Amino acid sequence: MNKVNVALLGLGTVGQGVVKILQNNKNQWVKRCNAEIEIKKVLVKDTHKEREVKLPPGVITSDWQEIVNDPEIKVIIELMGGIEPARTYILEALKHGKNIVTANKDLLAEHGEEVFTTCQEAVRELYFEASVGGGIPIINPLKQGLLANNIEKVMGIVNGTTNYILTKMSSEGKTFAEALKEAQELGYAEADPTADVEGLDAARKLAILASIAFHTRVKLQDVYVEGITKISPEDLAYAQKLGYTIKLLGIGSSQDNQIEVRVHPVLIPLHHPLANVNDSFNAIFVQGDAVGETMFYGRGAGQLPTASSVVGDLIAIIKDLNTKSTGHSACSCYETKKIKPMGEVKTKYFLRLHVLDQPGVLASIASVFGKHGVSLASVVQKGCFQDVAELVVITHQVKEKDIQDSLEIIKELPITKEIVSLIRVEGME
Ligand code: NAP
Ligand code: HSE
Repeated sequence: MNKVNVALLGLGTVGQGVVKILQNNKNQWVKRCNAEIEIKKVLVKDTHKEREVKLPPGVITSDWQEIVNDPEIKVIIELMGGIEPARTYILEALKHGKNIVTANKDLLAEHGEEVFTTCQEAVRELYFEASVGGGIPIINPLKQGLLANNIEKVMGIVNGTTNYILTKMSSEGKTFAEALKEAQELGYAEADPTADVEGLDAARKLAILASIAFHTRVKLQDVYVEGITKISPEDLAYAQKLGYTIKLLGIGSSQDNQIEVRVHPVLIPLHHPLANVNDSFNAIFVQGDAVGETMFYGRGAGQLPTASSVVGDLIAIIKDLNTKSTGHSACSCYETKKIKPMGEVKTKYFLRLHVLDQPGVLASIASVFGKHGVSLASVVQKGCFQDVAELVVITHQVKEKDIQDSLEIIKELPITKEIVSLIRVEGME
């Protein structure tokens, strides 16, 4: 019987999930990949820490050299997270002939090109299904099952923490702080939740998805990012009244050899499939020229869902090792499409403004928008307190630069008290 020795880098939430899956179904692996899988080494920071899982003596180590220099170890599963030392370890491991499974979106969104080039030169495999959408298969479907298509759009809820927060704020009237605390207690949020609530985690995942979907290297820095910290219960209530909900979406699209990549809160109609993705669930909507619309839905985080993707990748690699066919998971970014500057992106907008409640106010605001080519679909005075009126404006599709230029001027008008919200709108005709 073929035996494949693997090493884990990291034995935290996901690492322990991988150990649990591999230990629970031990007899299955032989049937599924014609090999016995042995966890030979596990790298951790603190070798004395209590763990949920038990491993034989000598397996846990804090010495990287024991792993990289062991010729029997064929696959390294990196589940430490962060850029360094994960980047160095993965590059060194590839150069030592190891194959890699990783869930590390931080690393791939910033150093994907370097990692894939090294992998290609080493003629080894690098699988990363868990880096986007946790347990949802999306990377491998984009790289294989959907390869016949020119992908026009990839749009998704790819951060469970923010989806949980928005769901709880919208359906249970919780405050942002209360909902965030719950998401942290449930283990969805990153150690520092800033990356979740400011949209960076979603931006990393979108950079990875867009790179694959559009065959062009997209880095974290290319993605326009806005988080959910400014979304208020009032915005959610307005959205609801208008037949919408608010979601943090990662949106990538490709048209005329240009790519749009942006992460920000979006008003989407309640009948849109993404509007019904709630709590910590993730979903990625993909539109291809042959397949049409498809959607991938499931648990975007959590121990066993994420470990499910990791173990799936491990089995794929073992099958390649069995047939001596490693070296085909190389970079698929063979194009160099331009990233559209955010100012050129066209979408619709929901705006909430506080202005003085007096004659001529609407006319002055409409005039600024008119001068910038911003066409309004509706303007409604939604409320009034003391001498201030609340205006809710929905625009037709306009360029981001035109709306931002208009707001710069409106902000300075003597009749303007505050520009309360600016939220982009998807899927409204
Ligand atoms: P975690 O719970 O923080 O675990 C990290 C593990 O890595 C710990 O065991 C830690 O050792 C070890 N480690 C960290 N730095 C190290 C270093 N310099 N040297 C040796 N060991 C080191 O992280 P996680 O939640 O499992 O996430 C792992 C990866 O999966 C990350 O890339 C994350 O983004 C990704 N991911 C996580 C989820 C999720 O639901 N958690 C979902 C999708 C993707 P000690 O235990 O000794 O401290
Ligand atoms: N913090 C992430 C989330 C975990 O909330 O989706 C999965 O990457």
